[in-house]
Amino acid sequence: MDQELFSLSGRTVLITGASSGIGAHLARVASRAGARVVLAARRVERLQQLATDIEWDGGTALAVSLDVTCRASVEAAFDAAEEAFGTIDVVLNNAGIGNGQRALEVSEEDWRQMLSTNLDGVWRVAQCAAQRMVRAGKPGNIVNIASMLGLRVGTGYSHYCAAKAGVVQLTRSLALELARQRIRVNAIAPGYFKTEMNDTYFDSDKGQAYIRTAVPMQRLGQLTQLEGPFLLLASEAGSYMTGEVIAVDGGQLVSSL
Ligand code: NAI
Repeated sequence: MDQELFSLSGRTVLITGASSGIGAHLARVASRAGARVVLAARRVERLQQLATDIEWDGGTALAVSLDVTCRASVEAAFDAAEEAFGTIDVVLNNAGIGNGQRALEVSEEDWRQMLSTNLDGVWRVAQCAAQRMVRAGKPGNIVNIASMLGLRVGTGYSHYCAAKAGVVQLTRSLALELARQRIRVNAIAPGYFKTEMNDTYFDSDKGQAYIRTAVPMQRLGQLTQLEGPFLLLASEAGSYMTGEVIAVDGGQLVSSL
């Protein structure tokens, strides 16, 4: 196997929601694969710490403030990134929220906040990135983080499932429209990975029991298990893939009905 196939050398990768969890982990992975990384989220002090760590390891990183719910903030983050490194080559559209709530209790405000972050935010960042790639006449690559809950449903997640299903269809629609401009758009649909979003639950007896019974592989995902799928989609290794949604879920999408 040619390791160079999965290299991101010479590329600039912008990661939204890079201040924790999957985003922070994959930012390090992108850097180790040779990319310059732009760490984008609201908690800039955390991003600066991560940027320092990455540079300490020999990488090149820039921390930029970004709120995916605000167009001006998204444009400003891309402006700052372009000023430092030129047009972004790869976007990891990862920022998201994930609080569970029974369907009957979701308020207008809760619904808006979920959709505004997890669907509108992904659209806003993808569109902004693609517009700039097209203006620069450069190919590009967008990797959206969806969820297995965009493909099946779970109790207490009606707003989250609706948003993530939207991300799945947005991924396919953008892939179709942007293919001629040499912009690939794919998604990863993770199962359960312990992060700040869910650690309290998965540390509890109830959470542990759930994993044993609901996940065919009977264990949580490890962040390292997202590295291969991410590098496949982000690098030349996936150069003929677009509109694809890769589940990384310990078999949960094929669990018995
Ligand atoms: P996390 O809570 O550690 O990370 C989410 C990141 O998004 C944080 O850095 C947060 O600050 C950022 N964020 C939230 N709202 C934002 C906004 N308005 N603007 C900019 N950044 C914002 O959780 P995790 O697990 O790393 O989540 C990353 C993505 O993975 C999310 O889209 C989530 O829905 C998705 N996912 C996570 C799964 C899991 O089991 N951890 C399963 C399936 C999907």
